[in-house]
Amino acid sequence: MNASPSSHSPRRVAVLGAAGRMGAAACRAVEEAEDLELVARLGRGDDLSTVTEAGAEVAIDLTVPSATAGNVRWLVDHGVHAVVGTTGWTEEGLEELRTQLDGAEGVGVLIAPNFAIGAVLAMRFAEIAARYYDSAEIIEMHHEKKLDAPSGTARHTAAAIARGRAAAGLGAVPDATEHDPEGSRGAVIDGIHVHAVRQRGLVAHEVVQFGGVGEQFVLRHDSFDRISFMPGVLLGVREVVAHPGLTVGLDGYMDLG
Ligand SMILES: NC(=O)c1ccc[n+]([C@@H]2O[C@H](COP(=O)([O-])OP(=O)(O)OC[C@H]3O[C@@H](n4cnc5c(N)ncnc54)[C@H](OP(=O)(O)O)[C@@H]3O)[C@@H](O)[C@H]2O)c1
Repeated sequence: MNASPSSHSPRRVAVLGAAGRMGAAACRAVEEAEDLELVARLGRGDDLSTVTEAGAEVAIDLTVPSATAGNVRWLVDHGVHAVVGTTGWTEEGLEELRTQLDGAEGVGVLIAPNFAIGAVLAMRFAEIAARYYDSAEIIEMHHEKKLDAPSGTARHTAAAIARGRAAAGLGAVPDATEHDPEGSRGAVIDGIHVHAVRQRGLVAHEVVQFGGVGEQFVLRHDSFDRISFMPGVLLGVREVVAHPGLTVGLDGYMDLG
């Protein structure tokens, strides 16, 4: 692993995807943090060895779904901790990464589908609420340039709702639809219907609707600006070195009980 500077020196950080919307915001956040130092900014086509040459201890990956797994594999191979916000990770990809990390003692990777603290809380609250309602659906809304659908956050929220329902012994959500040739009921993830909206002007938004007899309970989170993700990115960078192995979800570093 890269030699770690003394505990009083700022932690050396590289950003992959530095010219992108999220990457540029992360570069600014790292530069403004007194305990961190931005030592490398990489874009598409840049040689990853720049990360180790710059002595980065942690790399933040905010690139594209097609590049992130390869980037993280390289970082772990070279003993660099990784904080990953790029979405599009599959279960298979996570399993391969877990296996790789088993042989990379002390290296930590955080894969965070959402760095916004409120979105992380909404996922946890959704798991609790899911135990008490027959119906649950997710609507995720993002800007028109987002490459993948549904969002990683929606997938994780669906999984959390499914866990809550299973814990309460609830079966399938009630739904009498017999005819839906156009797919109007949306995707079904872990038994939960997920609807994806892509709209200019939006950043990242999620609504989780629960329905019971005579009532509705709605959880909503809105990221109006990418700056909303930066406290979570910085928390990830500060904590990842103390959490070897794979952590999926920023809640792994938060004390949510
Ligand atoms: N976890 C969260 O909280 C969160 C929040 C928002 C977004 N995201 C995710 O973060 C990722 C980035 O989002 P964004 O909106 O910033 O996208 P973006 O503006 O398209 O930025 C992606 C950047 O990565 C660059 N890139 C592509 N391949 C690369 C590689 N192999 N190495 C280094 N850089 C590479 C791109 O360069 P080119 O322009 O040359 O292709 C671009 O500058 C997406 O997966 C998005 O879904 C996560």
